[in-house]
Amino acid sequence: MPAKLSVENLDADGKLVFCRVDYNVPLDEGRVGDDTRIRAALPTLALLREQGARVVLASHLGRPKGRRNEQLSLRPVAQRLGELAGGALRFCAECVGPAYETAARELGRGELLLLENLRFHAEEEANDPEFAAALARPCEVYVNDAFGTAHRAHASTAGVPALLRPAAAGLLMQAELRQLGRLIERPESPFLAILGGAKVSDKIGLIENLMPKVDAFLIGGAMAYTLLAARGEPVGASRVESDKLDLARELLERTRGGDCEVLLPQDHVIAEGGDEARVGTTTGAGIGDGDSGGDIGPRTAEAFAARIAAARTVLWNGPLGRFELPAFAAGSRRIAEALAGSACVSVVGGGDTAAAVRSFGLTERMTHVSTGGGASLELLSGLTLPGVAALDDAP
Ligand code: 3PG
Repeated sequence: MPAKLSVENLDADGKLVFCRVDYNVPLDEGRVGDDTRIRAALPTLALLREQGARVVLASHLGRPKGRRNEQLSLRPVAQRLGELAGGALRFCAECVGPAYETAARELGRGELLLLENLRFHAEEEANDPEFAAALARPCEVYVNDAFGTAHRAHASTAGVPALLRPAAAGLLMQAELRQLGRLIERPESPFLAILGGAKVSDKIGLIENLMPKVDAFLIGGAMAYTLLAARGEPVGASRVESDKLDLARELLERTRGGDCEVLLPQDHVIAEGGDEARVGTTTGAGIGDGDSGGDIGPRTAEAFAARIAAARTVLWNGPLGRFELPAFAAGSRRIAEALAGSACVSVVGGGDTAAAVRSFGLTERMTHVSTGGGASLELLSGLTLPGVAALDDAP
C-alpha cells in the first residue's frame, strides 16, 4: 500500500481546506448517541487549525436517498463538535451554492464550517462531476480523514480530490491505514483472525485474502452455524445460509491439511426451543432439534482465549454471539478480555465488533479499534479503497 501525502506536510496557512470527515454517527432523540467518530477526527482538525487553515467540514449521515430529511440533519453533530472542538464552529444548512460559498470565504484562520448532509443530494453518491465542482469551488486544498467512507467512490471522496491539489490523508486515515495495513503486509506470527457476525458470504473476500497469512481462523457468530452445517454437524434451528453450504464446504476443504487451521465452536450457548428466556449450553458442537445458537459456549471461549494468549497478532471482525443480549454476551466478552490482557497487536474491525468492545469498556485496551466497518472489511479483503486511491502519494 503506497504511503499517502500527510496532512502534517501541508502548507495550509490561510488556505480554505475541504476536509471530508465521517460523522455518520448514531443519533438518539435528536442528539449524538455515540461520538467516537467525531472524537476520532479531532486531531486532524486541531492540526489544521494550528497550521492556520480555514476548514470546511463535509460528511454524510445515514442514507437519506438524495432528499432533504431533517431527521438526518448534521445539526446535532455540529452541536457536539462545537462542544468538543471548543467553539469556533459554524454550520451551513447547505453543502453547495451561494450560502456555502459565502460562509466558506468568510472563514478566518483556524475556524471551522460544517456543511449539511452531503447525501441530501443524490449527486453525492452518483459522484456527479458538477456536484463535485460545486463542493470544491471555494476551496484550495483537500484532506480526507473519513476512513469509514473510503470504500465509497462518491463526489466528496473521489470527485473533489480529482479537482483540488494537494489531496492529503488526515491523521485518522493514516492511523487506520497503518494499523490495518500491517495485518496484511507484515503480521507477526502467530497471527489469528477471529471472525464472527451473521454471514459467511460477507467474509469470503476477507478469508481468501487472509488465508495465506494467518495461522488460524477462530470462528463464532451465526457464520459458524453455516460452517458447522457444512461439516455435517446438526445445528437445530440456528441461522444457516443454506445457499452458501457448498461455498462453506469448499472453504473448509481448502484449509484441510494446509498451514492454516479453522477452529469452529466446540459448544454453544443456546435458546432452547428458540425461546430466549430458556438459555442452555450444549455439551458438544452439535445443536439439538428446535434449539438455536446465540453465542459460543464456555469451552470454546476458553479454547479461543488460550490461543489469543499465545498469539502475536490478532484481528477480530464480527461478534461471536448476540452480545447485545446479556444471555449471549459472555463469549464476545471473554474474547475481548483475552485480547485486553494479551501483549499481542490487537486490531478490531467492523462497527458491531467495535460496539461490543465498547460495551465491555475495553476499547482503550486494544491496539486499534477501527472506525470503519465496510471500509476495514474491503481493505483487509485486498480491495483498493477509492477514497484512498484519490489522494496524492507521499513524496
Ligand atoms: C459507515 O458507517 O460504514 C460509513 O459511514 C459508510 O456509510 P454507508 O454504508 O451508508 O455508505
